Amino acid sequence: MFYFGVDYYPEHWPQERWVEDARLMAEANFNVVRLAEFAWSKMEPREDSFDFEWLDHAIEILSSHDIKIILGTPTASPPPWLMAKQEDLFRVDPEGRRLTYGNRREYCPNNPLYHDHTRRIVTAMAEHYRDHASIIGWQIDNEFGDRCYCTICRNAFQGWLRDRYGTLEELNSRWGTLFWSHVYTDWSEIPTPLKTGGSPNPGLALDFYRFASESYVAYQKLQIDLLREICPQHFITHNFMGFNYDQLDYFELARDLDFVAWDIYWRMQWNIDAEVSPSWPALGHDTMRGLKGKNFWVMEQQAGPGGWEMVSVPTKPGELRLWAYQSIAHGADAILFFRWRTALYGTEEYWHGVLDHHGRPGRRYEEIQRMGAELQQIGESIHGAQIKAPVAFLLSYDSRFAFQIQGNNPSFSYPEHFHDLYRVFHARQIPIDILSPTSELSSYPLVIAPALHIVKDEIAKNLETYVRNGGTLLLTLRTGVKDEANAVVDQPLPGLLADLCGVEVEEYVSLPTDLDHEIQFSVSGIPMTPFPAKVWCDVLQPKGATVLARYREDYFAGKPAITVNQVGEGKVVYMGTMGDASLYETLTAWLLDQLQIEASWAAHHELEIGERWQGDRKILFLLNHSDSVQQVSLDGKYRELLSGSVLAEPKLKIPPREVTILKEEGE
Ligand code: GAL
Repeated sequence: MFYFGVDYYPEHWPQERWVEDARLMAEANFNVVRLAEFAWSKMEPREDSFDFEWLDHAIEILSSHDIKIILGTPTASPPPWLMAKQEDLFRVDPEGRRLTYGNRREYCPNNPLYHDHTRRIVTAMAEHYRDHASIIGWQIDNEFGDRCYCTICRNAFQGWLRDRYGTLEELNSRWGTLFWSHVYTDWSEIPTPLKTGGSPNPGLALDFYRFASESYVAYQKLQIDLLREICPQHFITHNFMGFNYDQLDYFELARDLDFVAWDIYWRMQWNIDAEVSPSWPALGHDTMRGLKGKNFWVMEQQAGPGGWEMVSVPTKPGELRLWAYQSIAHGADAILFFRWRTALYGTEEYWHGVLDHHGRPGRRYEEIQRMGAELQQIGESIHGAQIKAPVAFLLSYDSRFAFQIQGNNPSFSYPEHFHDLYRVFHARQIPIDILSPTSELSSYPLVIAPALHIVKDEIAKNLETYVRNGGTLLLTLRTGVKDEANAVVDQPLPGLLADLCGVEVEEYVSLPTDLDHEIQFSVSGIPMTPFPAKVWCDVLQPKGATVLARYREDYFAGKPAITVNQVGEGKVVYMGTMGDASLYETLTAWLLDQLQIEASWAAHHELEIGERWQGDRKILFLLNHSDSVQQVSLDGKYRELLSGSVLAEPKLKIPPREVTILKEEGE
């Protein structure tokens, strides 16, 4: 079943309206809604006094239209009566300020009283709805995140460190606490890296970030365990925030769930001038699919302009459907739009839903309704279809956290560097998987690990096995600099990977913002024209590797910047600098050529072509992100899924902001 639906807040509207809402939803071809994830104070208006009558009634009305239900546990927004109990229930931010009531996600994930109340509300909901035929699954909380620095967390962190290091001698030695005389003699002396403490010891800070992430994983598990026991037949998920969210190790958060769901907003109000390149949401989707190596759900797909205090620029005709099909093209097996009707009050009263404030269907409703009708027809042929990617990117949350602690250069950004490389493959329409650095890699001809800063033995071994068995690996600047405790390694860089790369970093040069250097390739197949080298220059000394490009300027002119090392059947390319799109495109073209990976499609930034496979048949999603007609030449015989007709000729025109879905024909 392809689920297509909406996030609904019946509690915001008079009951007399619910029947009309359900009717309009059914007419929009919705077959699922998410409910209740912010309705704690409606479900437990006073401590231990539960009221599910209103929710039963809403579910009954929706069920009578064959709409299935996902229930959200409401723990992201606790009621005032609970938060008034104890100051400690509130999170403390990195500046040491305790949050106060008024928003959401203000709780401390380690607070025992919060855990206690979580158990009560989750158990009450689960017991009440365990046997309801319309309930299919649960969303835990809402968009977990944000580190808490309170005393409860600090005590828990000290316990976590004791488990991790065993002895204080070991911790002191791994963190190098002799520096500035930070030698701890009792676990209770260890602080959290509050901003008031200044620039923290990098080992302490990284461990705290790991601990903070694990705190949410554990808090989520507390809820999962209850739900699995009481409602074993229901699925359990959480709504993640894509590639951009950087405070949680999402691989860990995904581990205990049945599948990943996420919230994708293309156009928000916070940066009204930002034009989003389709490669950013694409990277979000691929990351979410990679967390469990499996298709995902979109729990919140944009349904209109975003808005809190400000209002985002509008979503143009066609965009909502186009963006939702992009989600599907990257592996979404269900889409729910956020939200049904635009709220009349509350922080998000300008966050536009499928319906405007007045509640009457308009152009956004009609566009989504059209998509719903299409999915009723073709959803089954798409559902479960797989993505086959020849290229994997390795996403390291440890490295990302480490760069949050020490950015290395003000112009370096791990996520942007990652995206800059990703978007070259995306523009070439090459499917990409995003994996953790310890994942099994043997099925990928090419693996790219941008700025893999923290390398532990397990990762080094995994990469070595991959390359020795014939894989090609691209590594970039600042790789292998740190050990697991975030201390700098005592070998030449790239540390544990230096042998594999056949290269050593003789010297590294952090460049000022306004200075670009140049590099020049010296390998056949790559033009000799210079390319910019920005931000950082690793000056390389080959130890068996062959030089691909050299610096042209400064005291390191003539020294290697990019090398390739042949290891058995495999290769490791080390790129010691950052460039611009032209450098990444050139290097990528060379790599793909070496590997004989042929892109089926011409490179394009505005026409995106997504591929999913149903058995050995390919389904193509041709997504025109531009305001003009785009043309594509097909690589075989295809049938248009919606009309059912076989295309007479390989050339196809896609109108602006339109989508065409094709299925490959057999011989
Ligand atoms: C999401 C969140 C929703 C809603 C939406 C619009 O991040 O899960 O509850 O707030 O953003 O702001």
